[in-house]
Amino acid sequence: MRKPLNWVIPLCFLLAYNGVETVSNQPYRTAFHFQPPKNWMNDPNGPMYYKGVYHLFYQYNPYSAIWGNITWAHSISYDLVDWVHLEHALSPTEPYETNGCWSGSATILLDEQPSILYTGANSKNQQFQNLALPKNRSDPLLKEWIKSPQNPLIAPVDDIDPSNFRDPTTAWLGQDRLWRVIVGGEIGGSGMAILYRSEDFVNWTRSKSPLHSSNETGMWECPDFYPVSINGSNGLDTSVHDGLIKHVLKASFNDTDHYVLGSYIPGTDTYSVENNFLSNGSDMRYDYGKFYASKSFYDSGKKRRILWGWIKESDSEGDDTTKGWSGLQSIPRTILLGESGRQLVQWPIKELEKLRTKQVSFNDVDLKSGSVFEVPGITAAQADIEISFRLSGLKEAEEMNSSWNDPQLLCKENNKALGKGAIGPFGLLVLASKDLTEQTAVYFRVFRNQYDKYVVLMCSDQSRSSQREGLEKATYGAFVDMDPLRETISLRSLIDHSIIESFGGNGKACITARVYPKIAINQEAHLYAFNNGSMDVRISRLSGWSMKRAQVVPIQKRRKSSIG
Ligand code: FRU
Repeated sequence: MRKPLNWVIPLCFLLAYNGVETVSNQPYRTAFHFQPPKNWMNDPNGPMYYKGVYHLFYQYNPYSAIWGNITWAHSISYDLVDWVHLEHALSPTEPYETNGCWSGSATILLDEQPSILYTGANSKNQQFQNLALPKNRSDPLLKEWIKSPQNPLIAPVDDIDPSNFRDPTTAWLGQDRLWRVIVGGEIGGSGMAILYRSEDFVNWTRSKSPLHSSNETGMWECPDFYPVSINGSNGLDTSVHDGLIKHVLKASFNDTDHYVLGSYIPGTDTYSVENNFLSNGSDMRYDYGKFYASKSFYDSGKKRRILWGWIKESDSEGDDTTKGWSGLQSIPRTILLGESGRQLVQWPIKELEKLRTKQVSFNDVDLKSGSVFEVPGITAAQADIEISFRLSGLKEAEEMNSSWNDPQLLCKENNKALGKGAIGPFGLLVLASKDLTEQTAVYFRVFRNQYDKYVVLMCSDQSRSSQREGLEKATYGAFVDMDPLRETISLRSLIDHSIIESFGGNGKACITARVYPKIAINQEAHLYAFNNGSMDVRISRLSGWSMKRAQVVPIQKRRKSSIG
């Protein structure tokens, strides 16, 4: 009798590490973020849920810690926390992909047929869109993928710039039974989502107009387009068109993932946006720190939409070669339209909580002006912490100049995590050395604007994250769309040795920091709450957990035949 799959995986975990070279004893390797055992990784590709198994493919260089030879590596999971690495799904073998099998997406076609559309770059870096199907779709692990003999399916013709034409999205099906897909591009200096339609998923016709474009941006890499529910708490399949929904369009440019909200009319394939990319004051980003080339997918098992993003390194190529790897994937996040309807909210997937172990928690602790106190009893280098702050009064809030509309600049110029403000800075000092010479401050400040409204600023300051030279030590900032008169100001930070993923205001503003402490590593790392504002604040609730290590292991080649 065939064993159920969930018996087989733990066995693989036990057998897995034999003879496989790992770099797991390095201080910057993470414990619960997704990483391959070694080498370069960039974009998440083709995430999908199929027959009870989560699949993650990703851009991977099998030979080095620097970008090149791009291959689709493939890993699977039953809970999005523990992962098993499988054989590569797509390697560059054909002339239309000599320079790599670049990013793309998965679509579950009619009759539950999984498929992948991806970009191939030829030796001149001209880009083509291609199809691959699993060799055996009754195998839930989808181990082998066959490239379509009709590839390349979509070539860069007419006005399309062949070197800026890539990253097909998950396709969606219209009521006219035609599939739609968008491909990222740049034509005549405008970034755009070039739209194609197809009846059979093989022959694609370009639509006269792009789904959307912007002359404010350059090339749109890794676009994503999907519906979100206006009043529901479930995610939606990409092909849902009716009900109370809005559509999200995400584009990756300027090293960040930007999104707009709008309404999509399926009959005409028109998309009218509420705010445009980079238009004044409405630059909405998934994450205001390191987070790029992300991709979402619909998890039909748990009826939610999940987002993955690539977290780049902030060190040098030389450092990456020395450590033998580069790149992480974010913790998968559920993504929904927030209650206000104006923006998306993200939250780490619930399953992550299974790694929580030793807990510390308390309520109602005053954080006097100028105070710092250590959060005791948890492994500060590998932790999940949730904290909320209550403010005693807001009258003292500093006035905010109307020209202060760039939160990153505001955090940078008021780089005062260690200095004084009125209400704030207060927050956490993460991956901090005992003497605080190393620390990443994740904190809030509250201002009052010209309309007498309070503005909550969230910052993540890497300027003191490491005593090492030659690192990018940016300060990031975001406004948190909330009313501090009515709500406590909350922060959740996932701390994993060299990465800090922070969620402010219950996921309204996310900032990911990539840091390389020299002193504050492993047992030498500490976690503090601090308040450098002149006004006292109160920690209304704090819960912190040490986190266990996720099991991310290669499949044992010799056991391969027994899986699936
Ligand atoms: C984004 C990106 C994609 C491309 C891939 C190549 O990081 O540049 O546009 O398909 O990486 O690895």
